[in-house]
Amino acid sequence: MTDFKGKKIGYALCGSFCTFSKSFEQLEQLVNAGADVTAIMSFNAAYIDTRFGKSQEHIERLEKLTGKRVMRSIAETEPVGPKKMFDVLVISPCTGNTLAKLAVGIIDTPVVMAAKSHLRNSSPLVIALSTNDGLAGSAKNIGALLNYRNVYFVPFAQDDAEAKPRSLSADFSLIPETICAALEKRQLQPIINL
Ligand SMILES: Cc1cc2nc3c(=O)[nH]c(=O)nc-3n(C[C@H](O)[C@H](O)[C@H](O)COP(=O)(O)O)c2cc1C
Repeated sequence: MTDFKGKKIGYALCGSFCTFSKSFEQLEQLVNAGADVTAIMSFNAAYIDTRFGKSQEHIERLEKLTGKRVMRSIAETEPVGPKKMFDVLVISPCTGNTLAKLAVGIIDTPVVMAAKSHLRNSSPLVIALSTNDGLAGSAKNIGALLNYRNVYFVPFAQDDAEAKPRSLSADFSLIPETICAALEKRQLQPIINL
């Protein structure tokens, strides 16, 4: 694992609850590699209880891992850019909903607020997507974001082509490598992870 000592990383979770455990694993790796990580949650990630766990438990786990309060309001994430809080901002997992908002500039959750605020400094944004409509409704938004400056994707693939033929999911294990590349203003390749 690369040394992340001294790197300030914003780590934002959206409501793809089934990928939370994979995302938590990577967050833990980054902390263990010395990164100064601050967790952010969308309203839905922070307040919906699902079969994948209770929201309060997720918040407590994140706060224990990072040693900091989870940012979970628009007021908390608005200063991300002005205060230059992060070297890199990661959205992991990123839902189809948040991809759509990022693509068209709708800023109504703590995560998209953080992204907009961070991008104003031309700082790198890394997206680990997970959505059942990646090859349907979200495809145009992925296409739009691939074309944006300072936006980088964690390599992704179809996660279950038989049962969910339109579904795409990032290879979460490539998050650290994607961050390193993004910090050098480079997209990790190949993006399509066959
Ligand atoms: C149990 C559960 C699992 C979900 N999984 C996903 C998912 O993997 N990908 C996705 O795009 N949306 C998923 N959703 C739907 C999102 O949570 C929903 O679109 C929500 O509005 C996302 O808000 P956010 O992007 O602000 O977090 C799931 C919802 C539930 C309740």
